[in-house]
Amino acid sequence: MSHSEQFQTTLKVFCQRVDKALDFWLPQPAGPEAHLQEAMRYSVIGGGGKRVRPVLVYAAGSALHVDLNKLDGLACAVEMIHAYSLVHDDLPAMDDDDLRRGRPTCHKAFDEATAILAGDALQALAFEVLAKDENMNCDADTRLQMIKLLADASGSIGMAGGQAIDLAAVGRQLNLEQLENMHQLKTGALIRASVLLGAMASPDTSETQLQQLSEYAHYVGLAFQIQDDILDVTGDTETLGKPQGSDEQQNKPTYPALLGLDGAKERALDCHQKALQALSEFDSAADTLRRLSAFIVERRH
Ligand code: IPE
Ligand code: IPE
Ligand code: MG
Ligand code: MG
Ligand code: MG
Repeated sequence: MSHSEQFQTTLKVFCQRVDKALDFWLPQPAGPEAHLQEAMRYSVIGGGGKRVRPVLVYAAGSALHVDLNKLDGLACAVEMIHAYSLVHDDLPAMDDDDLRRGRPTCHKAFDEATAILAGDALQALAFEVLAKDENMNCDADTRLQMIKLLADASGSIGMAGGQAIDLAAVGRQLNLEQLENMHQLKTGALIRASVLLGAMASPDTSETQLQQLSEYAHYVGLAFQIQDDILDVTGDTETLGKPQGSDEQQNKPTYPALLGLDGAKERALDCHQKALQALSEFDSAADTLRRLSAFIVERRH
């Protein structure tokens, strides 16, 4: 098998694992809450989500030889936070988009109130999984540190804070430093948490390894949102599974808007190189992390 085929197979295995675990943790619709629970499932399962954050959990854990069974709950938790952030990101009060993962957005398939509640409930469920997944098999102190890490990455000093900066910046010019800070918060924080959670699942991970992985994740997270901004310009709606041109239409602060398309592409490649450098002391067990960094800047959706 070529390296590239091997990588594709690994991706498939990781995606199948997290899909199965998500199905296990998401409540089965029943009783008067069934409509809300349907909306939760709709937003997480069955669309064309790439599962990049769960894959990063598995890949970081694998770089440190963690048993995959210990990682399923962590992979679910980060995907639940991500799916919730997408449901709210698409709401009329935010980006007001109708298409997500190739299907109507949650508030279009259900209604606005249900979409708000589905996001709320998915966020709570992420922390419930971290608090009670027995397969994680880690001590209580590590579990608490993981909960704190995900909380920071999701809240006002992480994803939600970045979204607030994004909305406040519409129609204004951000400088490069402000733009990078916004990207780092709204997208980078959860990507960094995904990598670190995978690494924290091993009791033997050193402070130095955590720092190197944190640096890797910093650049991968930034590259991820830069590529998202580039695809908003160069992609097409069908491939993206979400509306092309949404940023420009809403006058969003983006990398291509500030640096031009070529400048943005250069910056994404530069981040990819820096991500690889951060892994220089890791052996071939980190190859999936290396390939993921390339995948993120080369992806077409
Ligand atoms: C889209 O994330 C939103 C951003 C943070 C850029 P993804 O591109 O990971 O979306 P899915 O999960 O594959 O649908
Ligand atoms: C979204 O950024 C980031 C989060 C959902 C936290 P975008 O608004 O660019 O994401 P898309 O392009 O709608 O997926
Ligand atoms: Mg947005
Ligand atoms: Mg959006
Ligand atoms: Mg976007």
